[in-house]
Amino acid sequence: MVTLTVNGKAHTVDVPPDMPLLWVLRDVIGLTGTKFGCGVALCGACTVHLDGRPIRSCVTPVAAVVGKTITTIEAVAATPSGRKVQQAWLDLEVVQCGYCQSGQIMAAAALLATKPHPTDADIDAAMAGNICRCGTYPRIRAAIKQAALSKGA
Ligand code: FES
Ligand code: FES
Repeated sequence: MVTLTVNGKAHTVDVPPDMPLLWVLRDVIGLTGTKFGCGVALCGACTVHLDGRPIRSCVTPVAAVVGKTITTIEAVAATPSGRKVQQAWLDLEVVQCGYCQSGQIMAAAALLATKPHPTDADIDAAMAGNICRCGTYPRIRAAIKQAALSKGA
């Protein structure tokens, strides 16, 4: 048994310690907003926050996150940067198929939490690992810039 803190709530789950966090989130806890893309840390679809930092949940064993704070897309709007990012995504209609987008939003929210006014280079560095097969990159960049200028909700 391990107890995880996800989106401010404790979850005690009976899973092997090496089970990837993504599996636990989706299949055990039932938070399906975080997506499986590649399973090998190459696409970013599975990005969640661990103590506020973006991580690839597909390659993070659940034992490594005990005692830490996990935030998923379902609760990203609870943080100021997440709220701004979410609103900018809606305003600019960033999403195409949507598959990559929870990971994109989590990466963008983590960026703005540490760099409220990122440069293009900052955006490139923070978002490089999040792949979008629909090519929404220009709208993602524009939405991050809009979120950075936003006063927030
Ligand atoms: S599913 Fe985790 S990086 Fe692709
Ligand atoms: S919106 Fe389709 S993969 Fe990014």
